This record gives sequence, structure tokens and C-alpha cells, in this order.
Amino acid sequence: MKKAFIAGITGQDGSYLAELLIALGYEVHGLIRRASTFNTQRIDHLYLDPHDQGTRLFLHYGDLTDGSRLTTLLAQIKPDEIYNLAAQSHVRVSFDEPEYTGDTTGLGTIRLLEAIRQSSPGAKFYQASSSEMFGAANPPQNESTEFYPRSPYGVAKLYSHWITKNYREAYGLFATSGILFNHESPRRGETFVTRKITRAVARIAKGQQKELFLGNLDARRDWGYAPEYVVAMWQMLQADAPDDYVIGTGTDLSVKDFVRLSFEHANLDWEKYVRFDERYIRPTEVDTLVADSSKAAKDLNWKSSVGPEQLAAIMVDHDIATLEGFVPDKPVGSVWSEAVS
Ligand code: NAP
Ligand code: GDD
Repeated sequence: MKKAFIAGITGQDGSYLAELLIALGYEVHGLIRRASTFNTQRIDHLYLDPHDQGTRLFLHYGDLTDGSRLTTLLAQIKPDEIYNLAAQSHVRVSFDEPEYTGDTTGLGTIRLLEAIRQSSPGAKFYQASSSEMFGAANPPQNESTEFYPRSPYGVAKLYSHWITKNYREAYGLFATSGILFNHESPRRGETFVTRKITRAVARIAKGQQKELFLGNLDARRDWGYAPEYVVAMWQMLQADAPDDYVIGTGTDLSVKDFVRLSFEHANLDWEKYVRFDERYIRPTEVDTLVADSSKAAKDLNWKSSVGPEQLAAIMVDHDIATLEGFVPDKPVGSVWSEAVS
């Protein structure tokens, strides 16, 4: 049985990745931060008591700011695959907390890579790089596009991206970087724009909210469906050699387009509800991100199957259903079902 270690298992992607790897027969070990309240909602449906003979999910306290803990854990677990999905991942927040973002999203990666070098040099490593690293570079962006990050988050991710490549070249580690474009789902954090929109649509449809305050409606993003992106992460570690891959759908929408699709799905006219609030404007904005994923299509046979209209519908339907009572979300689409079958 293969063993995987996931830093960031409690996040959107970590939860889908854990679900995928368990379905594929892995034993999964996740790093979680100690908090005064439970922060494992996204993986609760996968968790069994560790005394249960059948359990294949194990959680360990730790933090990317604590390098010695990472070394100890990897020495104990001896994973075959290590996924670094942990980060302060919010771009707007990175302007408020630039130093902390640098420490976790940037230096956190070197702590994990050093732990691997010392405790698990044979393990395969996946780094969650980001299209934010392209920032102001002209679209469409691919593996050869020059980076031009526009936020403390983007700069920290670029450090992690380059240090991953450096450890690949310097120490021969199987260290791969997935440069993923925006991907969303019913498990998306509530302050990212798509989920903020779909939750508001649900609440407005139910008469629980009157207005939705947003910032820049003109930014364009390449929004895909998160479960399909974790399949790409796993595929990258099954390749013969470590490399960098861009992952996205190749289509872009404006924030306004996503607003319109989401409100229309609930038969609402968005212009009656959406208001502007300058607090959501960023000191420097990324105008347009569009992926050219032809390398991943060729080398990994990866291609998205869920388009933006279906994505908005999945998220709005889930947020409406949640207001009506708890509904666990099940990944859909051909990419996910082919991977787990
Ligand atoms: P997310 O939902 O914000 O999850 C982030 C995860 O990192 C959470 O499990 C969080 O734990 C953990 N974390 C944060 N700081 C940590 C620290 N100091 N030590 C250990 N764990 C820490 O992010 P996501 O959307 O799943 O994205 C996964 C990764 O891909 C992130 O690195 C993100 O930057 C990157 N990425 C995301 C996208 C996207 O569109 N989603 C695109 C490109 C790249 P808590 O639950 O305790 O907060
Ligand atoms: N969050 C947020 N809230 N964004 C808003 C709002 C708002 O009220 N109003 C407009 N926006 C605009 C932002 O200015 C940005 O241009 C766009 O919506 C998307 O914002 P986010 O959903 O916060 O995502 P992001 O593109 O900044 O970052 C996400 O994608 C990156 C990959 O490109 C995050 O998931 C990052 O972790 C990820 O690396």
C-alpha cells in the first residue's frame, strides 16, 4: 500500500486529494494545525477512529513554520508521495500579512524540502505552485511564460516554485511543480470570489440576504473544478520524471460573467443585488489569467471536463441545498470518475 503525506489536508484541495488517494488504495497522512476549535470539516466524512482496523487516514499535528516537526514526522511516516498544499492562500490577505505569508507560503516549502532531503529523499514531492506567479504576464500563460507576480502571495509562491526546481536539480529529488489556475468547488473557502458569490446567491434566493458587496468585476480568471485539478496533481507524481506543468481550462471569464451565471442559475437579476465596496480592491491587481495546458494534455493526458456554467451551477445548487439541510458534496465529471474507477 502506498503512503501519501498531505500538508494542507484540511483545505479545499487537500480534502479532495485525500478522497482521491483513499479511493486509489493509499494510506493517507495529513498535517493539521492545532486550533481551539475543530478545523477538519472538509475531511470529517473520510475520517474513522484510528483504532478502527480499516482506517487509512491518519492526522498529525504540525505546521509549516516548524521544520523540526516536519523532519520527525517524515522520518516516522516514510511516505512515498508528499503533497505541499499548505499555504496562506488568500491574495488580498497577503497584502495585510506579507511577512506571515512569506513565512508559510514561501519558507514553509524549504522547511518541507529540507525535511524530505534529510528523512525521505526517495519520496516524490508535489509543490502547489500558482498562476498568480504569472501576474501581469500576457495571457495565455504556459510553462515558458515569464513570471511577473503582483502580490506578496505571488512572490512567496514564486520562491517556492524556484526552490522546488533547485532541489530537483541540486539533490536529484523527484520534486514537481503544478502551476494551477483558479479552481473552485462547493468546498472553496468562503472569502474567495466564486464561493462568496454562490453563497450570496443562495442566501438572496432564500430571503436571508439583500445585497452582495464586491470589488473589481473586470478581472478575468480561468476557473476550473477543483476535483479535476487534484487528479492532475496525482498524475504528475506518476510521471517518469519530475517537471513543471500548467493546469487550467483554457477559457477565461470576468468576475462579472461569473456573477451573472450564478444569479441566472437561481433566476435572479444580478444588477439588483450587487454593490461595489472598495475594501475588496487590491493594491496591485492581476487582470487576466488564461491557461495554456497543452503540455499537461500531451504528457499526462489531462483535460478539464467541467465548464464555467456547470461550475457555477454545482456551487449555487450546493449552497442552496446547504441552507435547506446538510448535503455532502460528491465530486462529479469524467476526469474524477475515470481516475477513481
Ligand atoms: P486552502 O483551502 O486555503 O487550504 C490551505 C491549507 O493550508 C489548509 O489546510 C490550511 O490549514 C493549511 N495551512 C495554512 N497555513 C499553514 C501552516 N502554516 N502550516 C500548515 N498548514 C497550513 O487552499 P486550496 O484552495 O485548497 O489550495 C491548496 C494549495 O494550492 C495552496 O497552497 C494554494 O495557495 C494553492 N493554489 C490554489 C489554487 C486555487 O485556485 N484553489 C490555485 C493555485 C494554487 P487550516 O485549515 O488550518 O487553515
Ligand atoms: N476574494 C475576492 N472578494 N475577490 C474579489 C472580490 C471580493 O469581494 N471582488 C472582486 N474580486 C476579484 C479579485 O480582485 C480577483 O481579481 C478575482 O476576483 C479573484 O479573486 P479570488 O477569488 O480571491 O482569487 P485569486 O485569483 O486572487 O487567487 C486564487 O487563485 C490563485 C490562482 O490564480 C487563490 O486561490 C490563490 O490561492 C491561487 O493561487
